[in-house]
Amino acid sequence: AKLLVLHGPNLNLLGTREPEVYGRTTLAQIDDDLRGRAQAAGHGYDSLQSNAEHVLVDRVQAAREDGTDLILINPAAFTHTSVALRDALAAVAIPFIEIHLSNPHRREEFRRTSYFSDLALGVVCGFGADSYRYALDAALQRLSHSS
Ligand code: DQA
Repeated sequence: AKLLVLHGPNLNLLGTREPEVYGRTTLAQIDDDLRGRAQAAGHGYDSLQSNAEHVLVDRVQAAREDGTDLILINPAAFTHTSVALRDALAAVAIPFIEIHLSNPHRREEFRRTSYFSDLALGVVCGFGADSYRYALDAALQRLSHSS
């Protein structure tokens, strides 16, 4: 199967960005770990980080054409703002898992709203870089049942 991992704005700064909130693991380390484990399980893997909403929307649209079976997405700040990215995921109707390093529910009030959670298969948040590992485990489990 084909997995796509999408990272929203400012996640390129992981490692140095508010480490007390987001930890010290870099995005490259997260991606390398996910890629290795997805490929070891026999799946295709592609990932993209962008600070631009339209780039993420375009990549989601392309996922319908390239045979992506499942999307893992940390929409970052777009979680709380982007109807456009939500609509793109709804349009392609590819199942997705929402991921956050922090637990948005124990932070500022404005982070409690997600434009994604009600469409997601599930949400993993609050475990730092491990949130990605747990989400990938859930994805692999699901893909092993569907193939
Ligand atoms: C985040 C949480 C968001 O509220 C925030 O805007 C981010 C990162 C997380 O992974 O914890 O940029 O999605």
